[in-house]
Amino acid sequence: MQQELKKIEAEARRRLELVSDADGVALIRSEVLGKKGSIGGVLRGMGKLPAEERPKVGQLVNEVKARIEGFITDAVSRLDNMAESQALEAGRFDLTRPGRQVEFGAAHPLKQVERDILSSLERLGFTVADGPQVEHDWYNFEALNIPEDHPARDMQDTFFLAPRVVLRTHTSNVQIRTMVKRDPPVRIVAPGMVFRKDDVDQTHSPVFHQIEGLWIDEKANFRDLKGVLKRLAISMFGPDAELRFRPSFFPFTEPSTEVDVRFKDSKSGWLEILGAGMVDPAVLEAVGYDPEKVQGFAFGLGIERIAILRWGIDDIRTFYENDTRFLRQFGRGAL
Ligand code: DAH
Repeated sequence: MQQELKKIEAEARRRLELVSDADGVALIRSEVLGKKGSIGGVLRGMGKLPAEERPKVGQLVNEVKARIEGFITDAVSRLDNMAESQALEAGRFDLTRPGRQVEFGAAHPLKQVERDILSSLERLGFTVADGPQVEHDWYNFEALNIPEDHPARDMQDTFFLAPRVVLRTHTSNVQIRTMVKRDPPVRIVAPGMVFRKDDVDQTHSPVFHQIEGLWIDEKANFRDLKGVLKRLAISMFGPDAELRFRPSFFPFTEPSTEVDVRFKDSKSGWLEILGAGMVDPAVLEAVGYDPEKVQGFAFGLGIERIAILRWGIDDIRTFYENDTRFLRQFGRGAL
């Protein structure tokens, strides 16, 4: 019976490779897959098999059928292409045929959030900066006032690639990369991928995205920081967003603050959206700036977190699964 199926498949394949019109395809289909077709014949013969062999042969039959369907699809598209190129060669066009349906694409929701934030900060005079994802310990930790063996390292579970080489745990490395390269003033914003040793669940992912901001000049102060973050909140959440600044701790800023957002008339209460603060003099010194002459502020936020709040998404994994049913809901941006 296996032999017979093989023969049917090979024969169908050969015929479908040679067939030259749609009627021919239809004929082969009915002769092979149709009610009275050759596969049907095999199925009828199954009655004679011992019961324990039937499921195996049944499965085999299904596999052969699926492959033959594939040959049919190939033959149909080969004939279509042939017809089209023949018509083109003959200079015949069917002007009544409908146009090909073209679908709009859209930016991924994380990209949309990133673009909104960057474009509002660009209008405040920030330029986009970049830095590596595989980073030396010094840029990711040391220069940010997080010495080796300091308990502050426990705030971020880190992937080590080699001794003193890490996958960056935050975009704050771009602060250091930029200041080491350039003299003040600097006003940069740096989006990018960051990595933490976390198991995947509804609210955690070992890879996520942040945006870092840094503004250093002779007098940038906490009021400027508040002004920038207020603008940013409005661009992310609309004019109804209220901000609250809570005292906090980061090794690279002093004083440090965590910022919460609340929406007028919403019952959700205060939701944390970012960390910020005045750049610690130790950081300025590490990059060779004179803390007596320049000062400024920095902030960092998680893009996933903002997208989750903006659209009420309840599972971070949906951002990475490329399920178009999810992504279609964000159909603006690239329109
Ligand atoms: N790097 C911090 C983190 O990933 C976020 C952060 C906080 C960045 C305060 C900053 C800042 O620039 O000033 O948790």
